[in-house]
Amino acid sequence: MCGIVACRVRDHAAPVLLSALRNLEYRGYDSVGIAVSTEIGTLARIRTVHRIDDLEHRVNDWNGARLGNVGIGHTRWATHGAVDEANAHPHCDCTGRISLVHNGIIENCDELRATLTTSGHQFSSAVDSEVVCHLIEARLAESSDLFDAVQTAVTQLEGSWALAVLEESTGRLVAAAHHSPLLLAHNDAGTFVTSDPAAVSEWASEFHILRDGDVVEAGETLRWRNSGLMIDPPTPVDFARTHSPAELRGHSDFMDQEIDEQPVLAAKLIDELGPAIANGRLWDELGLPPFDALQIIACGTSMHAGRVIAQTLGRLAAVPTTLTLGSEVAYDVVLPRTLRLAISQSGETADVLRALDHPVPTEVRTLALTNNPHSTLSRRADAVLAYSAGPEIGVAATKTFVAQVIVGVCAVLSALVSSGRLSVTATLELVEQLRRLPVQLTTALEISRRVVPAIAHDLSTASGFLFLGRGSALPYAAEGALKLKELSYRWAEHYPAGELKHGPLALIEPGTPVVAVENGDPRLRANISEVRARGARVVTVGYDGSTIPVLTGEPTPWGPLEAVVPLQILARAVALELGRDVDKPRNLAKSVTVE
Ligand code: F6R
Repeated sequence: MCGIVACRVRDHAAPVLLSALRNLEYRGYDSVGIAVSTEIGTLARIRTVHRIDDLEHRVNDWNGARLGNVGIGHTRWATHGAVDEANAHPHCDCTGRISLVHNGIIENCDELRATLTTSGHQFSSAVDSEVVCHLIEARLAESSDLFDAVQTAVTQLEGSWALAVLEESTGRLVAAAHHSPLLLAHNDAGTFVTSDPAAVSEWASEFHILRDGDVVEAGETLRWRNSGLMIDPPTPVDFARTHSPAELRGHSDFMDQEIDEQPVLAAKLIDELGPAIANGRLWDELGLPPFDALQIIACGTSMHAGRVIAQTLGRLAAVPTTLTLGSEVAYDVVLPRTLRLAISQSGETADVLRALDHPVPTEVRTLALTNNPHSTLSRRADAVLAYSAGPEIGVAATKTFVAQVIVGVCAVLSALVSSGRLSVTATLELVEQLRRLPVQLTTALEISRRVVPAIAHDLSTASGFLFLGRGSALPYAAEGALKLKELSYRWAEHYPAGELKHGPLALIEPGTPVVAVENGDPRLRANISEVRARGARVVTVGYDGSTIPVLTGEPTPWGPLEAVVPLQILARAVALELGRDVDKPRNLAKSVTVE
């Protein structure tokens, strides 16, 4: 999703911005641009709706005034307005005095735009962010101080923002944040502002994290305000360990590499957590109170992991669970003694963060399950389970799903044994089953790599896919369908197999691909016969005798996790057959920072 970088360095800002923007590419974007100070006190604004390579060519071809040492840059993932150069960031005010990049959504943009237009401001884009430029311009007409102007302008905004504002002639740089991540590093190499520390990890590892309402002038020294009052910068946080750069190691794309990493990752997580499960230590160390109900808050793939975790809890101890999509939380009733488990690999998903604002009884606590221990979600939660899956560069989640399931299941088992709902003996048996997962995932990888490409070739011309499962297999069928649709851009839906006869059978025509994920439930066979009878091309992921026979162990409360491997490989292979970019599928963002 949208990404911000800004810097004040000793030498040239443009190469730093280009390199930092490249580091943000994995988040997904549809246009990119920079604005850089020049030696004659103007701003050079260069934008493109193509890739960063194209931006680099445009920067190299720049024949205006020599580019200077301060600049801002942005990767845009369109929310307001079409994907075109006029809508690409940075945006400018009427005079061109300031340029600005923005992440988030200005919710009162229409009202502000109408007022500003009436008072003579001229807009050159359809983007909500541009209103902020004109608000700052209006404030600068009253007081020529950029820091004050940004401070006053943000008080007129509703919604979410991470902003970096650059002034021509002075080269002053001001950042502001509210409900959208923004970090600032200030060190010997320069000053860096970014929405994602991975972008500037080459120059900075320690960052001050902007809080809601912060406005900061990033000059030779930092001037920091919160809600208008001058304060000291918050203590910096070291991000070095969590943001090690990722590189391809013999794989053609990151998705392929990240699928391959899953068995080793599973082994690492189970080795780390295994000894702390049956003695309850994993749960006890979180310092959370006992709970009688669980509410899972998540989106997309993280919700599928949440479904697995909820089912495990329900099956083992009949603890009531609610699954709440982050964007739908307003309609939930949360009882006291509920644990809220917020799951998000990025820890920055706006829907999840906003869901945490929903009022709940005071005793309700929030546990975060995330791959980003320094994320906004981690800071907002009462306790954090950080699963350290390493950087996931493929935009579609793969290894983080496996990590979420394993860590979430380990935590559930530990909580149950700690509260006496599960015996130590039963827990130890379940831990033994978890320990088999790395081998099961490896077997699934080997079989899938052999069998799936031909199936994908065969199915790649299909216009739509149905994924079926029952019970514990259903979250995996859902994940298979999501992976296929986001990577191949083909329709793919999942259904509880028993529901087919209540309507969705109408979708089956001769040749319709139906992927059925087994979990040992004998009733699935009857459902498969129903679709076969109507001419479906059936692919079964299951035990011996299946089309993709990856399941080996006995059924577990968390279901057939290894079944996700062929589903990921199928989605990737179909996408490649169709010529898609599997690491950067269209319209999908790695960190969805808008609601
Ligand atoms: C799917 C995918 C998305 C994310 C969803 C939540 O491959 O990547 O569905 O799972 O946007 O993201 P996080 O986990 O960062 O909250």
